Amino acid sequence: MKEQLLSLTYHVFSDLSELSGDDAALLKAAREATVHAYAPYSHFNVAAVAKMESGKLLSGTNQENASFPAGICAERVLLSAVSSIYPGEAITTMAISYNGELNNSKRPLAPCGICRQSLSEFEMRFNKPLRLILGGMRGEIFIFSSVSDLLPFQFSKDDLMDNTSL
Ligand code: THU
Repeated sequence: MKEQLLSLTYHVFSDLSELSGDDAALLKAAREATVHAYAPYSHFNVAAVAKMESGKLLSGTNQENASFPAGICAERVLLSAVSSIYPGEAITTMAISYNGELNNSKRPLAPCGICRQSLSEFEMRFNKPLRLILGGMRGEIFIFSSVSDLLPFQFSKDDLMDNTSL
């Protein structure tokens, strides 16, 4: 038996003014896009904005449904749109923000588990790190340099195809 240590580095910024111009613009776009969420049930508006390799920006918001499980998170709405509108193009950075009726939106929102899995598939598909900028409408901002930092031991296509004998 041996014990393994997993460590994680991420960067914490006290507010938008500490970010680079590009990163600040991306998070600002995500904050602004929260108004486009369709969240009549949770009143928790989430928006994600992707910066593509070409520099183009695309945004997505959560889309809820009276049949609750049919609702989709902002991150996966965005990944589906990106993959359809800009097929074959990697995302370099995604900013995620939110504004909730019962939440003062002061701390960063980390994507839910299903979205981490979808983000991980996207990152592995392009074999390039997908940076994440996480921040509420105010307060601290976290930057992760890769989705894999948020989902260690991710399930991937390699698991489906691993034929190595034990
Ligand atoms: N939501 C997202 O859009 N992204 C996340 O990463 C977490 C949760 C949405 C789903 C639902 O519409 C609302 O936030 C409340 O859970």
